[in-house]
Amino acid sequence: MLLRFIDWCKRHIILVTVLAVILVAAFGFVNIQILHMTSEPEFCHLCHPAKGFGALAEVDSWEHSAHGDAGVSCLDCHGRPGVVGYMKAKMGGLKDTYMQLTISKEEKLEILNNPPEDLVPAWHCMFCHSDEGNKEVREATAGPMKLVKMRMLDDVVNPEFRMRKGLPDIMTDTFVGGTYFDHELHMEGFDFVCRDCHFGVVHNPATKTDRMNFCLACHAENEDSAPQMSDCDTCHQAQFSMNEGTGAKGVEGDASLMFGADIGCEDCHTAVSSGIFRPTKESCVDCHDEDYIGIFEEWAGDTKAKIAELREMRVNVEAALNDADRTKRDTTELWQRYEKALYNLNFVEDDGTKGVHNNDYAISVLDSVKEDFKGVMATLDSQW
Ligand code: HEC
Ligand code: HEC
Ligand code: HEC
Ligand code: HEC
Ligand code: HEC
Ligand code: HEC
Ligand code: HEC
Ligand code: HEC
Repeated sequence: MLLRFIDWCKRHIILVTVLAVILVAAFGFVNIQILHMTSEPEFCHLCHPAKGFGALAEVDSWEHSAHGDAGVSCLDCHGRPGVVGYMKAKMGGLKDTYMQLTISKEEKLEILNNPPEDLVPAWHCMFCHSDEGNKEVREATAGPMKLVKMRMLDDVVNPEFRMRKGLPDIMTDTFVGGTYFDHELHMEGFDFVCRDCHFGVVHNPATKTDRMNFCLACHAENEDSAPQMSDCDTCHQAQFSMNEGTGAKGVEGDASLMFGADIGCEDCHTAVSSGIFRPTKESCVDCHDEDYIGIFEEWAGDTKAKIAELREMRVNVEAALNDADRTKRDTTELWQRYEKALYNLNFVEDDGTKGVHNNDYAISVLDSVKEDFKGVMATLDSQW
């Protein structure tokens, strides 16, 4: 029987080869599809389904985070780089499934509420957020980085990646997210890990007031060397520059009328010493009449809408540039223009006041960003 089958195969060798290739390809395809499907946030959602923040709400909190917006997915953080790292994460997924079936809801919550410190180790974050960290890990990763495209992580090569996303190199740049802050000094001096300060990253609610309090509590103990509460300008570089009408690349401006008239930070931020750092629109009435609340709302509304529009444009411009790169066009100058525009967009967003610190300047910076984005698109369309 078997011999007759082998005999038959020998006589139909081409047909058999073709069939074998199809079978193997189909099996591989199904496998990859399963790997893909079980890596999607929708899949994780089956067992991590809650809304809001914290345990069980990991998918929902991710959806509303900057990482979620930027397309950084679960396994970009919860699986280590490279094919081996990816496969290990998939094995962890099998353990999750086994645990789901065997442990109680209370035990599951207990685990989720106490994630180990190195669940996502600092070196992993630095793979995307520093150049040196990226290089070290790529050199040390055993096995290939990837076989097929599975996720964002394995394609990350710095500095290109972070520059195209408008991110600083956290270990060399000190102007980060609008704040003057030296990561290297603090990380090496005090043995911090990322989540000691970025407790709001992805799954937990961030309060900026908590973060500032954390900085100032330790600085108060280091009065001789570290900046104190009243040194607003030292840390809040973006806000200071915005008030002053400087800071964006290639856009000239004037100081805001108020800053120009010698209104300093603490004239508006009157309650800082009692721990309330953020003034509201009511604070305008300290010096102006009631109508100025309307001015505040108008400023904030305009700026917010413009930022949202430009955020969407940014994604399209980046995609168009990547498309152009695939067809081997020279895009060096266009990438530079895009990166400059993105820097300026981040500058206004990082000021965090939606134009209240200096509305005229914020608007002219945003207009220049729009011009740059449009210019890049127009050149891409016209030249090729
Ligand atoms: C079948 C249900 C199920 C699915 C699907 C699932 N998980 Fe889980 N997950 C669990 C359970 C149960 C635990 C707690 C027990 C444990 O640590 O395995 C858990 C724990 C975790 C932890 C914390 C582990 C630790 O050591 O603290 C992470 C991270 C995690 N899951 C990520 C994911 C990601 C990412 C996905 C989607 C790719 C996913 N899970 C899909 C059930 C699931
Ligand atoms: C930017 C990196 C990043 C991304 C993307 C990310 N996580 Fe996490 N995740 C973390 C960190 C860091 C922790 C450790 C907890 C902490 O520090 O708050 C964590 C903790 C967890 C935990 C442990 C329980 C908890 O609530 O702390 C689960 C489960 C989890 N993540 C699931 C997911 C799922 C599912 C996704 C995708 C929908 C996802 N994560 C996307 C970084 C990330
Ligand atoms: C796959 C690459 C990647 C990994 C891994 C990664 N990030 Fe990010 N990170 C990004 C991108 C992309 C952005 C968003 C840029 C933007 O605003 O569009 C970002 C934004 C941020 C921001 C600013 C936005 C915010 O949420 O405050 C912080 C802080 C940050 N990451 C910290 C971390 C930490 C801590 C980890 C490790 C737990 C981590 N990142 C892991 C790519 C990554
Ligand atoms: C001692 C506190 C501290 C530690 C520890 C720390 N950071 Fe930061 N990080 C900051 C501050 C302050 C900023 C400025 C922006 C802000 O205030 O949110 C910042 C900014 C950033 C930004 C830029 C955000 C943007 O919007 O562009 C990234 C990315 C980032 N940190 C990643 C990390 C990573 C990754 C680690 C761990 C390797 C880490 N940080 C450890 C305090 C810290
Ligand atoms: C555990 C203590 C500690 C914490 C927490 C801490 N710092 Fe510091 N920081 C210091 C000390 C000490 C110095 C002075 C170091 C020196 O000059 O050698 C310093 C210096 C600084 C400087 C001036 C140094 C320079 O580069 O010019 C800035 C700005 C700064 N810290 C910002 C921050 C911010 C923002 C946070 C909160 C995210 C923070 N620090 C959290 C201890 C701390
Ligand atoms: C040692 C550095 C440092 C100094 C000095 C400092 N801040 Fe901050 N402040 C921070 C950090 C870090 C944050 C968190 C920023 C973030 O996460 O984006 C913050 C947050 C804030 C916020 C946002 C609060 C919220 O919950 O929305 C305001 C407003 C603010 N600071 C005003 C001031 C003013 C006004 C001064 C001077 C009187 C000052 N800060 C001095 C580091 C500092
Ligand atoms: C004319 C009044 C005014 C002056 C002057 C002013 N601020 Fe503000 N600032 C505000 C208001 C109002 C908000 C809150 C805006 C909002 O919620 O949209 C704010 C918000 C902030 C924030 C929070 C930004 C964030 O990321 O959420 C910081 C930090 C800040 N100011 C720092 C400063 C510094 C530093 C100076 C001095 C160089 C300064 N401000 C001068 C009115 C002022
Ligand atoms: C500490 C007092 C003070 C606060 C608080 C303050 N301003 Fe002013 N504002 C001034 C001064 C002083 C001038 C300059 C007057 C001049 O030169 O005509 C000014 C000028 C202005 C102007 C331009 C001239 C005019 O009168 O139309 C606008 C608009 C304005 N402020 C809006 C606001 C808004 C909105 C807020 C709330 C975020 C605010 N101000 C909070 C003191 C303040």
